[in-house]
Amino acid sequence: MSTEKDVIILAIESSCDDTSVAILKNKTVLANVTANQSVHEQYGGVVPELASRAHQQNIVPVTHTALQKANIDLHDIDAIGYTRGPGLMGSLLVGGSFAKGLALSLNKPLIEVNHMQAHILAHLIESEGQKNPTFPFLCLTVSGGHTQIVLVKSHDDMTILGETIDDAAGEAFDKAAKIMGLPYPGGPLIDKYAQLGNPLAFQFSEPKVDGLNFSFSGLKTSILYFLQKEMKKDDQFIEKNRDDICASIQHTIIEILMKKVREAVTLTGCSQIAIAGGVSANSGLRKALTDWANNDVRIQTFIPEFQFCTDNAGMIGINAYFKFLNENFGELNATSTARWKF
Ligand code: KG4
Ligand code: ZN
Repeated sequence: MSTEKDVIILAIESSCDDTSVAILKNKTVLANVTANQSVHEQYGGVVPELASRAHQQNIVPVTHTALQKANIDLHDIDAIGYTRGPGLMGSLLVGGSFAKGLALSLNKPLIEVNHMQAHILAHLIESEGQKNPTFPFLCLTVSGGHTQIVLVKSHDDMTILGETIDDAAGEAFDKAAKIMGLPYPGGPLIDKYAQLGNPLAFQFSEPKVDGLNFSFSGLKTSILYFLQKEMKKDDQFIEKNRDDICASIQHTIIEILMKKVREAVTLTGCSQIAIAGGVSANSGLRKALTDWANNDVRIQTFIPEFQFCTDNAGMIGINAYFKFLNENFGELNATSTARWKF
């Protein structure tokens, strides 16, 4: 039996439009509570000013609920982890200031977490029935703001092998959905309708980008021109072909992602591949990875639980836990940072 004392972390995520608080006991998430903001739907994207106001409203009740769910008293917490960046400045400041206030009032250490590293290390959260990768592994991080292939050598040693030179994969989903007249965020809706359609019904041009980098802005233009042309011939075209259009868009995005991941495997010799970020909730991408592992004995793929795919504080907590063990504490006078490369 281990004589090590359990570490209890309270983690806060507020980088974009989700206010999330998690309580962890070592590598296990006891509670992961997230308040989503529906206020942005009518605007077709996140409105930063509205996001920070909603974080202010949500952060105290979400923290209370997380503590209650975990059955943990605020005074039993060993450290407070928070997203320092990257993200929307106004949103980050709400979570950051709240974390600092808590750390100061409880006299507990504060831990700064990089949101993108957190998406990756979400794979090290321990839960029943979930297998964890071992170092080194490759991670395809696909979210609304980022698309990266990362070589993960340890908790704090990660190298970005390739990234998008323009739009992110999630942005490609959301922009394509917007062109089709679907509400924000369009990614989950495209996924839903794609399951009813034919992925080979329509062809969109795939970008040619060197190395392991990605590009999605050309795809968006190709979808826009195609739909404009078809709508001129039949103004009901999108309505009539919604499922096939969604399936074809999703198929193209997945092809672009999978091609580069395969190249990364060849280049690095790494055979463990993880996916992270909001787009890793996509059923088509999850299936493509699962099929790959089923058809190639050398390949092992790791797909996070849904609750740890999109923005959540559980992933901030697991990062904070490893930093706590290394006594890598943050400063009370550190400023939130909208851009933070690791
Ligand atoms: O990681 P995340 O929650 O927030 C950012 O840090 O960006 O990712 C949000 C992105 C959005 O673009 C959303 O449309 C996309 O993830 N997304 C999906 C799905 N669920 C969320 N895209 C495709 N299929 C999904 N099922
Ligand atoms: Zn994210």
